[in-house]
Amino acid sequence: MYRTHTCGELRLSEANQNVTLAGWVQRVRKFGGLTFVDIRDRYGVTQLAFNQQNNAELCEAAEQLGREYVVQASGIVVERTSKNPNLPTGDIEIQVTDLQVLNASKVPPFLIENDTDGGDDLRMQYRYLDLRRPSVQKNLILRHNIAQEARRYLCNLGFLEIETPFLIKSTPEGARDFVVPSRMNPGQFYALPQSPQTFKQLLMVSGYDKYFQIVRCFRDEDLRADRQPEFTQIDCEMAFVEREDVLQTFEGLLHHIFRYVKNYDLGEVIRMSYDEAMQLYGSDKPDIRFGMQFVELNNLVQGKGFKVFDEAELVVGIVAKGAADYTRKQIDELTEWMKRPQIGAKGLVYARVGEDGSVKSSVDKFYSEADLQAVATAMGAEKGDLIFIVSGEAAKARKQLSELRLEMGSRLGLRRPDDFKALWVLDFPVLEWDEEDQRWIACHHPFTRPKNAATLLTENPATLKAEAYDLVLNGNEIAGGSIRIHERELQSKMFELLGFSPEEAQRKFGFLLGAFEYGAPPHGGIAFGFDRLCSILGGADVIRDFIAFPKNNSGRDVMIDAPSSIDDKQMNELKLRLQEITKA
Ligand code: AMO
Repeated sequence: MYRTHTCGELRLSEANQNVTLAGWVQRVRKFGGLTFVDIRDRYGVTQLAFNQQNNAELCEAAEQLGREYVVQASGIVVERTSKNPNLPTGDIEIQVTDLQVLNASKVPPFLIENDTDGGDDLRMQYRYLDLRRPSVQKNLILRHNIAQEARRYLCNLGFLEIETPFLIKSTPEGARDFVVPSRMNPGQFYALPQSPQTFKQLLMVSGYDKYFQIVRCFRDEDLRADRQPEFTQIDCEMAFVEREDVLQTFEGLLHHIFRYVKNYDLGEVIRMSYDEAMQLYGSDKPDIRFGMQFVELNNLVQGKGFKVFDEAELVVGIVAKGAADYTRKQIDELTEWMKRPQIGAKGLVYARVGEDGSVKSSVDKFYSEADLQAVATAMGAEKGDLIFIVSGEAAKARKQLSELRLEMGSRLGLRRPDDFKALWVLDFPVLEWDEEDQRWIACHHPFTRPKNAATLLTENPATLKAEAYDLVLNGNEIAGGSIRIHERELQSKMFELLGFSPEEAQRKFGFLLGAFEYGAPPHGGIAFGFDRLCSILGGADVIRDFIAFPKNNSGRDVMIDAPSSIDDKQMNELKLRLQEITKA
C-alpha cells in the first residue's frame, strides 16, 4: 500500500498512529539538528519531521530532497510543539522512520504554490505542473462538483444523457467551423459541432423528450477571457414544453447548483425583456447586482443650445452614488477611458450634486441651475452623487454608457465576486443586421421560434421577436436557448427570411426539414456555458483556469504544440496537397 492517508487528512485525533504518506516535496527547511519537509498532494500539505539525533542517515536523506520530488514517508503522528493554525494538518507532524524517493524531479520552472512566479506562457507550457497548484486544483474540483450536481438534478427529473456525434456537417451558431478532412471521401470535410443543436432537435422527433449532455463544442472565433475554441455546454432539450416549463426547469438547475455546490441561496431569478434590458442597462446581459439604471434625458436637455445633445438621437445618464468627491483628474481619466477605440465615446458630460444640494456640471454654460436640478431630480441623484451623461446614436450611446456603468460598479466595489444575481432576458429579436455581409442573420439560431409565426414574412424584420431566452449571471451570459420551430413550413419560411434559397436550405438542413414531416413534437431547450458557469462560481472571469488543458489567446496549446503541420504521408492520404486543392 503506497499510503494509509492523504496529505490533507491527519489531525490530533490520529496522534501516535503509524502512518504512510506519499506526495510531492513542497519545501525542505533545516533548523540545526532538525529538518522539516512539507509534502503535498491534492488534499493538502503535511509536515514531515526528521531529527539528526534519532536517525542521522534519514535526516541527511531528507536534506537531499529537491522540490517536487515524489516521496513516500512512514512514521508516527505526533503533536507539534509549534502549531500552524493556517494549515488543516497544522496541529501535527510525522516523525519519520522510513523515507523512500519514488521519483526525482528537475527544479520546476516556477513555484508550485497558489501565488506562483510563473507567467502565463510558462504556466501553459508546463500545464501539468501548473495543475499541481492548489488554486488551480480547487477550480477543477469545483468544476467536477458542478458537473455532478447538474447530472444529479437533471437525472432526478428524468432527463437522459445521450451522446451526439462530433464529426458532423456545419451547425450554424454564428461562428466559423473547425473542419476535419475525410480520408475516405477525398476533398470532403466534416465540421466539428458548434453545438449539438440539430441533433438534440432530432432526438425530440425520436421521442426522447428530456435530453441532456455535458458536451464539448467547437467554434473557430476570436478568443476572449470568457471564450475558448473548444468549450463545454450543459446542453438540454425538452419536448411538449412551453417557454415557462423551460425557464422553471433550468432556473431550478441553477438554484440546485448554487445550493449544493456553494451552499448559497441565489434568490429570485427576475425576468426582463430584451428591450427593457437595453433601455435600463444598455446591455442584453446586465449585471443586476447593483442599480445605476439608465435614465433617458432627451426631453430635459434638448433645445437649450448645447449642440452635442441637441443633435443626438439619445441623451442618457447614470448616477454614481456617493461619487461626487471624484476629482477632476479622476473624471478626466474616465473620459479618456471612454474615448478609447474599444468604447468610442466622443466625450463624457458629468454633474456633481454638492453637499448643499447644488448641481455643478461640465456643461454649465448651456444649462441653468433649474435645468440641472430637473435633471438631478429625474435621475434620482442626491447630495454627494455624481451624474454621467453620454449622447449620440441610441445603440452606440447605450453600449458606451453600459461600459461606464460596469466600470463604475467595479470602482465603487458594487460587483463583489461572492455576490450572485441571475436574471432571464426574454423576447430577443429574431434577427440582427450583419453590417459586414449586409444581410439579416439569426440573433440566436435559425431554429428559434418567432413569437408571431403568421407575420414572419410580412412584418418589418427589425421588430420580429423570438421565443428566445438567455440566463444571465453577474453580467455574463451563462445560458441561452429557445422554443423551436417544429413545423416544416415555418422552418422553410425562416430560411427564406435568412436569405437561403430553397435549394440551399435543402442542401444544408434537408435532414431536419425531412424529420419535421414525420411527427415532430413541439420542443425547446437551452445550453449552459459550463466553463463560464464554473469560472463565475469560482469568482473569476477568465475561463481558462477552469479548463484542465486550455488554449492560449492565439488558439494554441503551447504544451503539446498544436496546431502543427502534419507529415507528407498524412497530407497525401488526405489529398490535401496544394496541387490537389488547386485541381479541385
Ligand atoms: P449559444 O451559442 O448561446 O447557444 O451557447 C450557449 C452558451 O455557451 C457559452 N458559450 C461559450 N463558452 C465558452 N467559449 C465559447 N466560445 C462559447 N460560446 C458560447 C455561453 C452561451 O450562453 N445551441 C444553442 C443553445 C440552444 O438553443 O439550446 C447554443 O449553442 O455561455
